[in-house]
Parts: sequence; structure tokens; C-alpha cells
Amino acid sequence: MHKVKDKYFKTLIPSHDIQAKVVEIADLLNADYANKNPLLIGVLNGSFIFLSDLFKCMNIDCEVTFMRVSSYENLRSTGKVTQIIGLKEDITDRHVLIVEDIVDTGQTLVNVKEQLVKMNPASLKVVTLLNKPDAMLKPLPLDYVGFKIKNDFVIGYGLDYDGHGRNLVDICVLAE
Ligand code: IMP
Ligand code: MG
Repeated sequence: MHKVKDKYFKTLIPSHDIQAKVVEIADLLNADYANKNPLLIGVLNGSFIFLSDLFKCMNIDCEVTFMRVSSYENLRSTGKVTQIIGLKEDITDRHVLIVEDIVDTGQTLVNVKEQLVKMNPASLKVVTLLNKPDAMLKPLPLDYVGFKIKNDFVIGYGLDYDGHGRNLVDICVLAE
């Protein structure tokens, strides 16, 4: 059990299994993106540990950068508006991979994809370590998924509870 702030978390996916999955995903990317010089874009903050481990397993020519997204409720329309912050690279005609820690409702990703598509990349695909299929609001193609998990709150390996718990090496789930 790990105590993080006021709550207790127990291991859901041990570090060893995460590392094996990271190698598996990297192998797929190495094959699919050979000679394409892909640009991996990590969505901060949650993806930084996953992307760091993944990048070390890439043995093809590739580049990495990060962006932030800020979401806010739009008062005049329904739903969230997502703004991309800090993406300096020109992605025109680039093979782009968005790297996420987790896709929950999928709302962030839908908005991010919409905005990146407007920048005319050669291709745009999604890599996520975790996905909660039962939480997704609409179907959204996820090209590379590490683990599908239940609709429970998880932390560790970059994911946080109110800023804490990102440094846990296992992915941990809220204990009852
Ligand atoms: P979505 O827009 O609902 O798909 O969620 C996007 C963001 O919510 C993710 O990138 C995470 O930062 C955060 N999030 C969703 N589920 C969890 C969780 O179980 N633990 C920690 N963060 C989460
Ligand atoms: Mg995130």
C-alpha cells in the first residue's frame, strides 16, 4: 500500500509488466516508422516518464518534443475547449505520434487531434500507455494502447493524484 496525500493506493500494474509493454510498443513503432523520422509529442505532465522509457527503446531515426494542453469549459457552447501550449515545432508533412499517459473520456485527445490535423502533418497517430474503454464518450481510434483498464482512478509512472504520486514505479489504483 502507498499512502498519497489522504488516500491509499495498491499496485495494479507492476513496473516489470510496464517495462515489458514499453518494449513491445517501441518494437511496433520501430517497424512502422522506419525511415519516417517520426516526431513524438508527449502531452505534459503525465506522459513524461512513459515517453522517456519509450524513447530509449526506439532504434530508428526519430525526434521528441512536448506540449501542454489547457482545458476550460466554454460558457457559450457545451463541452470543453482545449488549447495547445508550447508546441514550437513545425509539424507540416511530419509523421506525428501523440504520446499520452492515459485516455479516459477521450475528450482531451479529440480536441488535440482536431487542432494538430489543421497543421497538416503527413500522418497523426496516438500512443497511450493506458485506456479506460468504459469511460470514453465517443469512439476514437487509439493506434497503440499499452493496457486497457477498468474505470478506476490510477496513479504512478507519471500519473498523479493532485500533483502527487507520479514517482511511484508501479501503476497503482485507489484502494477501497
Ligand atoms: P480525458 O480527456 O478524460 O481523456 O482525460 C485526460 C487527462 O485526465 C489524462 O491525460 C490525465 O491527465 C487525466 N486522467 C484521467 N484519468 C486519470 C486517472 O485515473 N489518474 C490520473 N489522471 C487521470
Ligand atoms: Mg495527461
